[in-house]
Amino acid sequence: MQIFNNPQELQQYVLSQKRKGQLFSLVPTMGFLHKGHISLMHQAKVYANNVIVSIFVNPTQFAPNEDLDKYPRDFEGDEKKCKDAGVDIIFYPSNESIYPADYQTFVNVEKVSQNLCGASRPHHFQGVTTVVAKLFNICLPDYAFFGEKDFQQLTVIKRMTKDLNFPIEIIPVPTFREDDGLAMSSRNKYLKGKEREDALVLYKSIKRVSELFSRGERNVSLLLSEAQKIISSTPLAYIDYIKIVDIETMNDVDFITKDSLFALAVKIGSTRLIDNCKLLLTKGEKDV
Ligand code: PAJ
Repeated sequence: MQIFNNPQELQQYVLSQKRKGQLFSLVPTMGFLHKGHISLMHQAKVYANNVIVSIFVNPTQFAPNEDLDKYPRDFEGDEKKCKDAGVDIIFYPSNESIYPADYQTFVNVEKVSQNLCGASRPHHFQGVTTVVAKLFNICLPDYAFFGEKDFQQLTVIKRMTKDLNFPIEIIPVPTFREDDGLAMSSRNKYLKGKEREDALVLYKSIKRVSELFSRGERNVSLLLSEAQKIISSTPLAYIDYIKIVDIETMNDVDFITKDSLFALAVKIGSTRLIDNCKLLLTKGEKDV
């Protein structure tokens, strides 16, 4: 496994290998790797012989009041996990090599980044798309892997890839969960004591909404009020948003007549967690 810190050196290396016909997969991460990240790496290896994992805690996607400084880091642990997962290259750049002092270019995807996390974290997706566009240009992958856990992020990146004609196939990977259902996240590390158990309200509300949906409930206020009941049973939980949106446009819907997404962001104590599940119509319903 090779480690590159310098963007130009990695780009030159990938170019030289691609001239020899090699294919590359990219898994962008912010490190503190867990099994969700590892599942992306395993998928990445299925698609291409060469897997690059980038580890970069991207400052431009954090607002000044957010957890950039305390975001968990463990490069040595990450290095071992990547080696065990069969990763070929780690890209571990410095802040200065990605955003030099005179940096002034940003990528902004409009509509799909407005709702949900885009509404709660106004500059977040611009930071994500900017760094991912840069990672695409540095790593020149044929395939790039993103988790459905961050469904809106995946949607925004698909849109950017299409709109900016990146010759890259975006591959979605299902959410990897703990045995009790909590979606794996680097931020789960912040959960202390009883908060870990309280964090299960996200998964419980997803289960409830999918169950009602599969029994035929299509009324969004009803579905959301059921989810809300579950979350408000935990005094430590504070709802940032809880919504059902069109799975393509990310716009709110009142009644489910198209494939949709149930998405929520809930603060457990001071830790903000997100989760979601797809609400897909049956073929018969779509034909109507
Ligand atoms: P990070 O939170 O480290 O996540 C890296 C990738 O792992 C993302 O595509 C995310 O959706 C995926 N992932 C996280 N938890 C997962 C889980 N439980 N199951 C499946 N996939 C999971 O997302 C980011 O970093 C950043 O915004 C980034 C795209 C790297 C840009 O800075």
